[in-house]
Amino acid sequence: MPTTPLVLRLLTSNEVEDGAMLVARGMRDNPANMRVFRISDRAQRSRMMERFFTPVLRSLYRRGLVLGAVRSNRLVGICGMARPGFCQPGTIEKIRILPAAVIGNPIPTPLRLLSWVGEWARRDPFEPHWHLGPVAVEPELQGCGIGTAMLHTVCAFVDNTGGPAYLETDKSENVRLYQRFGFTVMESAEVLGVPNWFMFRTANANAKTKSSIETEASESPAAPAPHPISTGAHSD
Ligand SMILES: CC(C)(COP(=O)(O)OP(=O)(O)OC[C@H]1O[C@@H](n2cnc3c(N)ncnc32)[C@H](O)[C@@H]1OP(=O)(O)O)[C@@H](O)C(=O)NCCC(=O)NCCS
Repeated sequence: MPTTPLVLRLLTSNEVEDGAMLVARGMRDNPANMRVFRISDRAQRSRMMERFFTPVLRSLYRRGLVLGAVRSNRLVGICGMARPGFCQPGTIEKIRILPAAVIGNPIPTPLRLLSWVGEWARRDPFEPHWHLGPVAVEPELQGCGIGTAMLHTVCAFVDNTGGPAYLETDKSENVRLYQRFGFTVMESAEVLGVPNWFMFRTANANAKTKSSIETEASESPAAPAPHPISTGAHSD
């Protein structure tokens, strides 16, 4: 068990690029990314994903919150969430993201990307909700409780707002993790031939937790404790 505390806090705008690099490393072996990018070299796949996730995370930063898990000044985990009513990027944001999907990739890649995000978007619940993702932990630190700590914080925050939450995932192990936090599978379907799960968490009307911006987290999944984050305002 690491002794250095894990700090959970909102990323600043200057940290978003680091966040995108972490998302690319953390998610480079996920089935959907392997299928969309179809780059066998892991480092190269990670680079192309980083290029794509940088504008995606910038857009998310504007539309919601980007929570970071930081240990010893190193970003080790990330959880983005779009605020209710802002699940999808607007037209200008889409235009900003497009070059990152097109440049340097063969033509089928942006087409697969479009198909993937389209399949996800058309399943977005009508009910206003917090939309989680991307969620990623540094590969060599996965399985050590960082994701659990982030989800405690995020769920406490969501409960504070009284709203439901929703996410998509492409790994069955993740379904188990999210189920522990009260998410249930609304639908499962293949997207580009990859199994995906669409999960919803109802609002917790009994939540009593109050907010604070920065918090130290327990990484022991056996000792859950709510770790609230601040409301919509960014610290920069
Ligand atoms: C999913 C993820 C964020 C979870 O964070 P984490 O710190 O590894 O998770 P924790 O240690 O807190 O919890 C472990 C649980 O996470 C799930 N899990 C998913 N991927 C895992 C991995 N690569 N290693 C270990 N656990 C993983 C399992 O349910 C596990 O529970 P179990 O031990 O009972 O099987 C992280 O593993 C990750 O970045 N995975 C790759 C990217 C990804 O799939 N992101 C989610 C997209 S929706």
